[in-house]
Amino acid sequence: MNQEKMGLFISNLRKENQLTQKELANMLGIMDTSVSKWERGINAPDISYLTELSKIFHVTVQELLNGERQFKKKEININHHSKVLEVSNLSKSFGKRKILNNINLTMYEGDIVGLIGPNGAGKTTLIKTILKLYKADSGKIKICGYDIQKDLEKALSKTGSIIESPDMYLNLTGKKNLQITALMNDIKDKEYIDEMVKFVGLDDRIHDKVKKYSLGMKQRLALANALIKKPKLLILDEPTNGLDPRGIKELRSMLKKISTEQNMSILISSHILSEVENICDRVIIIDQGNIISDFGIEEAKYKNISLEELFFTKTESFESGEQDENSEFSKK
Ligand SMILES: Nc1ncnc2c1ncn2[C@@H]1O[C@H](COP(=O)(O)OP(=O)(O)OP(=O)(O)O)[C@@H](O)[C@H]1O
Ligand SMILES: [Mg+2]
Repeated sequence: MNQEKMGLFISNLRKENQLTQKELANMLGIMDTSVSKWERGINAPDISYLTELSKIFHVTVQELLNGERQFKKKEININHHSKVLEVSNLSKSFGKRKILNNINLTMYEGDIVGLIGPNGAGKTTLIKTILKLYKADSGKIKICGYDIQKDLEKALSKTGSIIESPDMYLNLTGKKNLQITALMNDIKDKEYIDEMVKFVGLDDRIHDKVKKYSLGMKQRLALANALIKKPKLLILDEPTNGLDPRGIKELRSMLKKISTEQNMSILISSHILSEVENICDRVIIIDQGNIISDFGIEEAKYKNISLEELFFTKTESFESGEQDENSEFSKK
């Protein structure tokens, strides 16, 4: 690591984003003198700030350490820091059983967040509560600033989702299904519908009735259906269910592409840890209705810890009631 080169790189990234040292320091919750020292190569940010900086500037921690970009520059949006999802103090029970326990979660524009956890941990319940398919006991949920209690319609207009087996009109063609969604959401751009059909690779079967589709084809249609609204937030509950290996690979590149092109945020629950590692920038582990870990993928890669390793240590120590405050990825 060349501290001076890294400092210069941070300074350039900050200017590219039209931020002052003070503004960057405020975002990180530190003194502006610290930013100034990093930029002059006097000090180097520690790993938690490197992770934060990598999220703010859409670069990897490794690129920050190298002081240069290895990968193609992502389109940087100065509104990157607008909050797309804010979940605060959310709790949810079914009968007497508490399923979600005081969940706090914020997603920013362009974030791709993986939600992992054992069966029955509460992932689907969290997703359904965010979309108000379930009523929360307490807490607040905002999507793009709209409170789902007061402005549900506006909040949902910013959201696309696929949860469990997606609802489709089986007796209608794929195309007709998409047209209905477009109509209901007042979307007039017909070319965009065709673009999305191509994007998900369904163009040769889009005029077939959905009942003739395979599971993977239905998943692809559901994705096109979720995307035609051009949502700011895409929520996917185990989207790779039923997809073949090629489908999984294609979905991965589709999600990365659409997130970069449209600066879309994606919340994706999955049991396939390698997928999460591949697609997401950030991972949240949920167990027995609690968020037990929330960390950047780059942070894990930097420390050479696999997601599988983290999953097991985190869930095992949580379930055995051990406190984990001193671990490298302690509960936030
Ligand atoms: N409609 C419901 N009524 C009662 N209990 C429910 C309901 N839906 C879910 N639960 C319970 O809530 C808990 C969390 O379930 P949830 O489906 O959210 O888990 P999950 O993390 O999505 O699991 P999986 O990985 O198996 O999909 C489970 O104990 C489940 O039995
Ligand atoms: Mg589930």
